Amino acid sequence: MIVRKTDAEVETMARAGRVVAATLDLVEEHAAPGVTLSELDRLAEEFIGSHGGTPTFKGYRGYPGSICASPNAMVVHGIPGPYALEPGDLLSIDVGVTLDGYVADSAITFTIGEPSPQAAGLISACYEGLEAAIDQCRAGNRLGDVSHAVQTAVEARGFGVVRSLVGHGVGRNMHEDPQIPNYGPPGRGPKLAPGMVLAIEPMITAGSYDVEAGDDGWAVYTRDGSLAAHCEHTVAITDNGPRVLTRRG
Ligand code: MF3
Ligand code: CO
Repeated sequence: MIVRKTDAEVETMARAGRVVAATLDLVEEHAAPGVTLSELDRLAEEFIGSHGGTPTFKGYRGYPGSICASPNAMVVHGIPGPYALEPGDLLSIDVGVTLDGYVADSAITFTIGEPSPQAAGLISACYEGLEAAIDQCRAGNRLGDVSHAVQTAVEARGFGVVRSLVGHGVGRNMHEDPQIPNYGPPGRGPKLAPGMVLAIEPMITAGSYDVEAGDDGWAVYTRDGSLAAHCEHTVAITDNGPRVLTRRG
């Protein structure tokens, strides 16, 4: 069942979304050679708390971090640890904030210093896929239109779309219906309606789209060791088109 939110609920989620966006800004600003992922985690946790929120991920099914920090061939769900960033690393940061009982969820991918041509192409394809999907978030469209938009944009650039991980509805809970694959045919699935809020999150690879779990039970890596990118926004369907609740800047 897809829970539709009232206007007031969407406003609360927008406030959570502003904290998410500001946290991502802060983490990207501080991500530099020699900085460890756990330092970024602590920074994010303090910032979220100082803005009246709680980090949604912490304690979720026992997840120990406040954010996910996934470098290079790690696709998602990296527990921030002692790894120190190096020049040229590609890094995905995922942040969820719960504020007044509602969740917003967003992720970015960037590089430490100058990207390689491959990393630059991968990252821009990921954002192109996300923006194409957001543009489909209109009442009367179907969920398959959103999924198909990601796949079309990403594959046109020659990259792989991870199949085994999906986006999701979001609201009082981080994970609500519907599941949102990043691939599939248009014109199928539930009809989008005002009040639905979707966390759309393309996960894409420079090589094969096959992934495997890491030893800690959380991290997900590309099976072939190729680079991966992940970006995500929380998007409300409104009478006036898509409203991105986690937009930065
Ligand atoms: N954006 C991710 C998701 O929607 C964040 C979950 S990380 C977890 O699944 F640690 F909380 F699971
Ligand atoms: Co998410």
